[in-house]
Amino acid sequence: MQGKIFALAAAAMFAAWHAAADEIRLEDTEFANIKTGWGEVRARKSIDGNALKVGGVEYPNGLGVHAMSSYRVPVGGNALSFSAKVGVDDEVGGKGSVVFRVLADGYVVAEVAAKGGDAAKEIKADLAGAKFATLEVTDGGDGNYYDHADWCDAVFVFKPGTKPRPLAELTRQLGILTPPEAKEPRINAPARYGARPGRPILFKLPVTGEEPIAVDIGRAALPRTLAFDPSTRILSGSLDKEGEYEFVFTAKNRHGTAKKRFTLVIGEKLCLTPPMGYNSWNAFAGGVSDEKMRLAADKMIELGLDKHGYAFCNIDDFWQRNPENGKSDPTLAGPERHEDGSIWVNSRFPDMKGLADYIHSKGLKAGLYSSPGPYTCGGCTGSWLHELQDAKSYAAWGYDYLKYDWCSYGAVATGDGRDRHTRPYFLMGRYLRMQPRDIVFSLCQYGNENVPVWGGEAGGSCWRTTGDIFDTWPSVLGGIRAQAAHWMYSRPGAWNDADMLVLGRTVWSNGRLTPNECYTHMSMWCMFASPLMIGCDLSLMDDFTLSLLTNDEVLAIDQDELGAAAALVLEDAARDTQIWARPLADGSMAFALLNADAEEQVVAIPFARLGMRGKWAVRDLWRQKDEGVFADAYAVSVPGHATHLVKLSPREGAALKPCLKDIRDNAWRVPFDADRAKAAGVAADGCGGCR
Ligand code: GLA
Repeated sequence: MQGKIFALAAAAMFAAWHAAADEIRLEDTEFANIKTGWGEVRARKSIDGNALKVGGVEYPNGLGVHAMSSYRVPVGGNALSFSAKVGVDDEVGGKGSVVFRVLADGYVVAEVAAKGGDAAKEIKADLAGAKFATLEVTDGGDGNYYDHADWCDAVFVFKPGTKPRPLAELTRQLGILTPPEAKEPRINAPARYGARPGRPILFKLPVTGEEPIAVDIGRAALPRTLAFDPSTRILSGSLDKEGEYEFVFTAKNRHGTAKKRFTLVIGEKLCLTPPMGYNSWNAFAGGVSDEKMRLAADKMIELGLDKHGYAFCNIDDFWQRNPENGKSDPTLAGPERHEDGSIWVNSRFPDMKGLADYIHSKGLKAGLYSSPGPYTCGGCTGSWLHELQDAKSYAAWGYDYLKYDWCSYGAVATGDGRDRHTRPYFLMGRYLRMQPRDIVFSLCQYGNENVPVWGGEAGGSCWRTTGDIFDTWPSVLGGIRAQAAHWMYSRPGAWNDADMLVLGRTVWSNGRLTPNECYTHMSMWCMFASPLMIGCDLSLMDDFTLSLLTNDEVLAIDQDELGAAAALVLEDAARDTQIWARPLADGSMAFALLNADAEEQVVAIPFARLGMRGKWAVRDLWRQKDEGVFADAYAVSVPGHATHLVKLSPREGAALKPCLKDIRDNAWRVPFDADRAKAAGVAADGCGGCR
């Protein structure tokens, strides 16, 4: 049994590798659980994200970490050796000193000390018989500043014929689960929409079904300043008076009629459900242009994404000029600001207002990106010392969304502690609020200074909680685990942002996530009530990716009007499974059953253990299929790295006790009462009552 566990664990760790006999490169192992003292570990990159370079030599393969780092690899008694060239990356300019160690079942079998500027040194370890190999980097005795440590050309050698099987062979992969779109009309989320008094409203009702569909707003007399066009399904105009305005939309075709209650809430809050749309970064990075944005807007309509609720079409970095890149790319060259201080756009964006108008003409909203620092993360002009001017430009051009990215702000930041981090966001939040149009404010500072606590107060409709996402399993899984600490802060108008979607063809690849991993990504982002920003090239959309993005029952979880994000309620570390729960406005609960192991296994919701009594009706949301009524537990076999998403609705005798009851009642939500939670034994990062 023990042997089997090791073999499985070893197999689970190795997602893919190059073709050579029985060797596996370090970066091809599944390094989701690698510990690093700072930064994000990425295949073939230093901890700062550069090419690996030690002593002036570049290494194409390996992993860059930061001391203190450790990585426990279950090699299952089958590995023979490990070897690498190690050293401190040149990116720290000759500083830093570290010690690299390899341990076999806890015993040090190889050790090499290195300091900044040294050439890479060889480390070789005998692993014969070891169940686990641990790769460790500690500081060289002078603290861990600048300790950017590289494992270059790092390879495990296995006994012939014992190389772990590839992930794809360990588990079945899910195909398209979303049923074909129904012919009957359906009015999709959201059910609540926020706008500020006197600001222009642009809301396109998302409706699916066979056309023609006649849509009606169901209110004989609309307020005079509001208009609904049944042919475009756009609600526009403005309302001066704060309050809730209720409508019942009707959509009718030859197959049936759908009705939906809709509330327009005029007040302070925007994004009463998480924003949905498209963002150019993961698709084009620094290669974005006016032409690509117009094409993206066209494609959003052509693919019918607007009918499922995707509303924003956002330009990320690189609409501004960029002094550094401008040296080699004339489209980015030129003075950064006009004489009056207003921002110059680069020549790929000849008409910012024209572009926003074009996006609006499709019933979509336009967004853009800046940094509170002098430069954005891509080195384009940021808003530092021009914040008000920039906010005015965005409004004058007609933009509806600003992603505001910390980037170079650290170099100019003043003040201490939290103030140093929050100040630029409060400032821009105030300036955006002063504009004559609603501009959604999206904070991007990777979760620093506990942003969920203050992001909403700064005027943010959402805030990133992690570093940048990539289309790899470690990145997605790491992003998921990170949400466990923040769920209680998400609420209507103020959302945790788990970063943009990496489904489909991105700027990095043709999609490195397996189909099962794609299901986990989309299911969990909906469970988190995260903004859903599509991050792929829409002109290369494939049927599978489209099916992931357009399942209305799954999207309805993300858009649920209660706005409570999922909490991690059960985690089985030995089996690598997680159960997340999210209360929904209609009294039901959504559950995600995540199997992070590489092999298929049964994952169960044990009702009593979670404080659930009575009977619950289960609906499989991806397949849009009822599974029956369950009394004690609901169990399902989940393929490796996949997530099964279900909705449980109360039936006979159904009731909730803590901890699910606490989650349902928002007992631990904002303001998160740490003392009360502690007294009740609830972990600050979730729901101790269940675990
Ligand atoms: C940062 C952000 C990304 C993207 C880039 C643009 O890395 O986190 O989402 O906006 O900057 O340079």
